[in-house]
Amino acid sequence: PLSAMEQKDEMRQELGSLHGIPIYKSFIEGWPQVKAFQARPDDLLISTYPKSGTTWLSEIMDMIYHDGDVEKCRRDAIYNRVPFLELKAPMEMSGVEQLESTPSPRLVKTHLPVQLLPTSFWEKDCKIIYMARNPKDVVVSYYYFHQMAKIHHDPGTKAEFLENFMAGKVPYGSWYDHVRGWWEKRKEKKILYLFYEDMKKDPRQEVQKILHFLGKELAEETVERILHHTSFQEMKKNPAANYETMLPTLMDHSISPFLRKGICGDWKNHFTVAQNERFDQHYQEHMAGSDLHFQME
Ligand code: A3P
Repeated sequence: PLSAMEQKDEMRQELGSLHGIPIYKSFIEGWPQVKAFQARPDDLLISTYPKSGTTWLSEIMDMIYHDGDVEKCRRDAIYNRVPFLELKAPMEMSGVEQLESTPSPRLVKTHLPVQLLPTSFWEKDCKIIYMARNPKDVVVSYYYFHQMAKIHHDPGTKAEFLENFMAGKVPYGSWYDHVRGWWEKRKEKKILYLFYEDMKKDPRQEVQKILHFLGKELAEETVERILHHTSFQEMKKNPAANYETMLPTLMDHSISPFLRKGICGDWKNHFTVAQNERFDQHYQEHMAGSDLHFQME
């Protein structure tokens, strides 16, 4: 039998390449099923680059779908209430299998870049909500996530990880391509494009945008309950939302909790002045010609 240490390392995966996008090798094994996934017209897709507020948006959506019923939203962990489309791990139910046994209307989570989304989502004209977060906070959050979520290999130093992130050599590849790709697509498809920073600043307004997009109305007090239940403090102590029910061999919250800080501008505590200058320069180059803008704090 493997020692605890070896078992831990068993989880760590090298990245493979899926149509040029770096991604976990086990996910690539499951790719044929993902590609052939049959979306249903009433599916709602939650799409994000990792660490951009996926879980937060997922909890908000599940609350909206259950008219603010807190108890119903405790029925299962968030990763089961909103299955992860391309998830595939040895000996576990894949995201596709999980979704096939989920009754409609389904909430579906993905981190796929727009060009890799299974075509049936477009064919069925599904509604999509994309949430983007400024890259400086994403890279810091991703760094800690690499340490605590054992599927990743060791991220190295912060400086090394920053280089890899800027070069797109992290799972799901270039942040720039991801946010820009989905941003362009919203011009032709049913995509509501949200920002983590706006959600932090004025969650009520963003929830109203979502309701409008869904064509749904909720009583003022229901919205109030949703906002309270999906606040960082509430989610952090909610076992159905904080990922603490995952096996410790998959996530080690003692290294860094999944709900780590939940703020805008934490990058200031991590970037050196030189790193920040270099990043700004790189950002300007890679966002040139786009009308997509981010609030960095
Ligand atoms: P930090 O690591 O900066 O704290 P994802 O769900 O896409 O993996 O994103 C995780 C990030 O979203 C983490 O960021 C986490 O703390 C933050 N987050 C989760 N729930 C949140 C909430 N209710 N309010 C604010 N941030 C939240």
